[in-house]
Amino acid sequence: MTEAESGGDGVAATEVGLPQGRTPLIRLPATPQVANKGGSIFGGWIMSQVDICGSIPAEIRAGGRIVTRAVHSFEFKKPVFVGDLIACYADIIKEGRSSMHIFVEVYAQRIRGAVIECIKVTEATVIYVAVDEQGRPRSLPPKKTSGA
Ligand SMILES: CC(C)(COP(=O)(O)OP(=O)(O)OC[C@H]1O[C@@H](n2cnc3c(N)ncnc32)[C@H](O)[C@@H]1OP(=O)(O)O)[C@@H](O)C(=O)NCCC(=O)NCCS
Repeated sequence: MTEAESGGDGVAATEVGLPQGRTPLIRLPATPQVANKGGSIFGGWIMSQVDICGSIPAEIRAGGRIVTRAVHSFEFKKPVFVGDLIACYADIIKEGRSSMHIFVEVYAQRIRGAVIECIKVTEATVIYVAVDEQGRPRSLPPKKTSGA
């Protein structure tokens, strides 16, 4: 067990708070390389993770190339600090002919003694568009039926 996993005092940390029954699409540590002078993490780094995370269900649904078209909302609800482990979740909340609205949530897990605190730090709604080889919008493919 690492120092981080033990909470620093030899007692296993209790992991709390990540959404139950959901799998994060990205999970990675916030490192000093992406911190500002105050020790919190650059918003641009978090925005980048949000865009990457949101693109995953969009690309799967589109069955091919997509581009980011718009950001309808983006909220930094709480700061992220060096050492936090971030977990990003993304769900398709609306579809059009070629567009997909993806709701992205970012949580930070922070070790506090024997407990890993979990804080929702960011929420965003990002719009992706399925494009063809020429970069023009194309229709989303029909949805696959489960069990097929
Ligand atoms: C994405 C792109 C091909 C769309 O071209 P376009 O001429 O805007 O196409 P359309 O007007 O037909 O819009 C395409 C879809 O996006 C939707 N859309 C366009 N602007 C939108 C906005 N601001 N918010 C939400 N949806 C939007 C349209 O409603 C349409 O949806 P639908 O097909 O589901 O009805 C073009 O804008 C583009 O290449 N943008 C640059 C993308 C990019 O470089 N991203 C950054 C790196 S990936």
